[in-house]
Amino acid sequence: MIKVDVGRKIVKVEFNNPKPVVKFDLPEGNPKPSVEFKESSVRSELNGQYVELFFKLDSEDRATAVKRLGVFEHVLGLGEKALPVDRRRTRVIFWNYDNYNYKLGTDPLYKSIPFAIFVEGGKAIGIFVNSATYTIFDLGVGEYDKALFQVHEPSMELYIIFGPTPLEVIESYTDLTGKPLLPPRWGLGLHISRYSYYPQDMVIEIVKETLKHVPVDAVYLDIDYMEGFKQFTWDRSRFPNPKEMIDELHRLGVKVVVIVDPYIKLEPGYPVFESGIKHLCRTPDNEIYVGYGWPGLSGFPDFFNGDARRWWADWIERFAREYGIDGIWIDMNEPSTVNLKDPEFRKRSMMKHLENLISRDNVSIPSFYKDMENLSDNTPDLEMIHRLDDGRFEKHYRVRNAYPLFEAMATYEGLKRIHERPFILSRSAYAGSQKYAFIWTGDVPSDWEALRLSISMILGVSASGHPWIGVDVGGFAGWSDPEATARWYQAMAFAPFYRVHKGRLGNDTELFRLPARFRRMAIEAVKLRYRFLPYLWHLAWEAHLTGRPLIRALPLEFPEDENTFSIDDQYMVGPYILYAPILDRGAESRFIYLPHGSWFDYWSGEIYSGGSTIRSASDPPIFIRESSAIPVEEGLMIFREGSWRIYHGEQGEQAEIVFEGNKITQRGSPLKVDKVILLGIDASGASVDGAEARTSCSRNRCEIVVKGVFREIKIRR
Ligand code: GLC
Repeated sequence: MIKVDVGRKIVKVEFNNPKPVVKFDLPEGNPKPSVEFKESSVRSELNGQYVELFFKLDSEDRATAVKRLGVFEHVLGLGEKALPVDRRRTRVIFWNYDNYNYKLGTDPLYKSIPFAIFVEGGKAIGIFVNSATYTIFDLGVGEYDKALFQVHEPSMELYIIFGPTPLEVIESYTDLTGKPLLPPRWGLGLHISRYSYYPQDMVIEIVKETLKHVPVDAVYLDIDYMEGFKQFTWDRSRFPNPKEMIDELHRLGVKVVVIVDPYIKLEPGYPVFESGIKHLCRTPDNEIYVGYGWPGLSGFPDFFNGDARRWWADWIERFAREYGIDGIWIDMNEPSTVNLKDPEFRKRSMMKHLENLISRDNVSIPSFYKDMENLSDNTPDLEMIHRLDDGRFEKHYRVRNAYPLFEAMATYEGLKRIHERPFILSRSAYAGSQKYAFIWTGDVPSDWEALRLSISMILGVSASGHPWIGVDVGGFAGWSDPEATARWYQAMAFAPFYRVHKGRLGNDTELFRLPARFRRMAIEAVKLRYRFLPYLWHLAWEAHLTGRPLIRALPLEFPEDENTFSIDDQYMVGPYILYAPILDRGAESRFIYLPHGSWFDYWSGEIYSGGSTIRSASDPPIFIRESSAIPVEEGLMIFREGSWRIYHGEQGEQAEIVFEGNKITQRGSPLKVDKVILLGIDASGASVDGAEARTSCSRNRCEIVVKGVFREIKIRR
């Protein structure tokens, strides 16, 4: 049975009356796709682009939708996957999963965003399956010419999303699932972290050491700040006076983010547990579900209902307010249980719930249990019960992937009472998480391979409606050589979220500890980020208003260029910068693919024409696209003529800038700059609003000193 509903550029298809746990409203307005549907197929069309889907139940009662996969069709998106940018010929699972030390192809991972963008001949169509249960996308693996979307339940809610460009598909997807949050400005700076910094004097020492070299915007406290790993407590032997420490960090201009896990220790007298008993997940027998977390035997807050969310928000608020905490880091929220003591525990717990299932309900084992046999080691019992906002009860396996979304929502609600723009970092996520939290790619290894893989991973997330993604700079698990560490600092210099973090075991990755040559590299990388911060702020506003991501896989900007789909080690920063970090040990140059148009080498001043691969010794290679205007720390950089809207200011004030002929004019809320930097032209002189301005040129780049606000600049060539 199929039902359809049509919104602006989106068709909602309901197969067999689904009841998804996360509800999204179809955006209203035009253009509206046309739809024809029969008992088990849907055909939809908009402006000459069409898609046809066939729905069925397979022999195991799993709802499945199938679409043709064309010879030249590429697949972008799928959220966090350890895969190349083009996800064609992959089979992926959406099932939040704590997968420590993953590699290329390891699946599933921490986040579930069941959203794919199909691109063919430059035109794109999105498919989003709104299911928080175990879901599979098979993109031309099981059947060469088919893409298959399958959920482990007999009904499915699926959205067809029209573009026509990939970026417009992302815009429409975020019309449906929510526009990305706007962070506080400090969210974009350098963040430093370690599992775990303590005691409190040492936290301050690390921050001060780093500040000797570069700005620092935030420092993180990992689980060891807590007393016995209990949420909302402090280990007073390590942090005798947390308030004093945080005040001092604030005086240094550094914000403080603390970790909070979803484990509520079952301990009589512990106020979080006592106040929260009724908000914890249950077993089918209505007992508190007991899992294993850092603090030992623990319950899990049932974020699926508003009462539990309010209780959690109250604790977040109370804790953040009392100590002056700036941001909250929510971890282990797939949710994941850890088994600290008994390596055999994992297997046994899996077997136990299989046996329970069979004996209690006298049913056979559903096939997804079999599929997940090797996955369930760090997952709570799949029969754990959640109470939803509408009073319904659901088993964990039906709603699991949405757990982190509701946790982020609750955390946001608490922090919002204190901070106008809450800062939350979350490890797990579902579609819609972009409204509440930054995310990072979890426990990545620290080797060169992981560094390279990290790029296509963050580009995948970024193409999936969640722009606020980052990686543990330096890698989390294991060791890296100092050269790799320095290259991580560089490679992520334009990542939307820029945090250095590291596991308990493994080499130190703070930049001040690196040997001189690599320390210099890391310091320069951080400085580079701060130089471009005004541009990242502009892109943050653009992301917030439109959904367009800050960093973009090349095919998002050049979908008609077939060559871009196999570029996994370069990225666009907004529309105007192409970044191609060096990712190999000992390398001092690399090959770079430049799509069509003219490109300005930021370091050498050389101009290249695109549509070709070049070898560049610039380090790290940065290319400015033709017709771009980029606000940077020292001013406004313009490469050739064009017109632009630039967001600046706290409220996203917009400057409208036009460069045409011999004149640059500015309207709207003007951008204050000290310099206008013209790339790729020779200018002998300039006047700013009538007054003569100082112009100096070198390496294909002319700087015009402006000092403050300009309305018009005339240039003599
Ligand atoms: C998890 C997180 C990691 C954190 C650690 C301790 O492994 O992914 O970032 O440092 O737990 O809290």
